[in-house]
Amino acid sequence: MDVVETIHDLRQRRRIQGINQVVGVVPTMGDLHAGHLRLVDYCREQCSFTIATLFVNPLQFGPKEDFANYPRALAHDRAELEQRNVNLLFTPSIEEMYPEGQSAHTTVAVPELSDQLCGAARPGHFNGVTTVVSKLFQITQPDYAYFGEKDWQQLTIIKRMVRQLNMPVEVIGVPTCREADGLAMSSRNRYLSRDEREIAPALFQTLREVATHLHEGSTAYADLEASASNQLREVGFRPDYVAIRDPVTLRLPSAKHESVRVFGAARLGRARLIDNIGVER
Ligand code: PAJ
Repeated sequence: MDVVETIHDLRQRRRIQGINQVVGVVPTMGDLHAGHLRLVDYCREQCSFTIATLFVNPLQFGPKEDFANYPRALAHDRAELEQRNVNLLFTPSIEEMYPEGQSAHTTVAVPELSDQLCGAARPGHFNGVTTVVSKLFQITQPDYAYFGEKDWQQLTIIKRMVRQLNMPVEVIGVPTCREADGLAMSSRNRYLSRDEREIAPALFQTLREVATHLHEGSTAYADLEASASNQLREVGFRPDYVAIRDPVTLRLPSAKHESVRVFGAARLGRARLIDNIGVER
């Protein structure tokens, strides 16, 4: 596996080694776990040349968020990617990505979708994501790009960005990888104390209960959301939201909607956990 830190070197390798290949990219912020590695497996399966990117993107962190403390584990990540036969790893510095500074950088914003759910709790977050992802697409020029369904809103926003800006890349969503007790894998699970780790699976369980009610035909969306939030509060979470939405527009579904998605975000100790589940009716 080649490891490069500059855009110049990445482009050079991409041009020489990636020629006549089907190129896939897996963008990450590192501290890789089985969820990330599942994206790599999907990419390896579908593409002949796999590029992983590892960049903790300051632009998508709010001023009071965990940018400085975000877990960094380059040696471990490198070994995991090497073992999975990734062809090229791109690990740029902040200066390489934002040479004129972050506030002077061109931004890519996807309106409507970016302001709700996690966007309401984290203003500017998704503009940071779409800006860095469009840069990574420009730099790596992939045919396919892989993103996790765990971050469903992010996936939806990136799909819309690609469509609206006519980017020549196909975005593939990969199912959420979970611990044995249902907790969605996340680098931020590291922030949980032992007691909090015991409580954490309640987020997925609660969303699953909402999904069961929806599956059985309930359309009392607001009531289901409110009682799920209360349930989370009772076991020790500070919920940001539980929301039942259309999976593509993220708007409130009508009573007739056949396909809906249940989203939840809740703080537990130092961690902010998110999860979501699809429901077909
Ligand atoms: P990061 O949190 O490192 O996640 C990288 C990719 O892994 C994302 O597409 C995310 O949805 C996926 N992922 C994380 N946990 C997962 C799980 N349990 N199961 C399946 N996939 C999972 O998301 C980001 O980084 C950044 O916002 C990024 C897209 C890299 C832009 O900076």
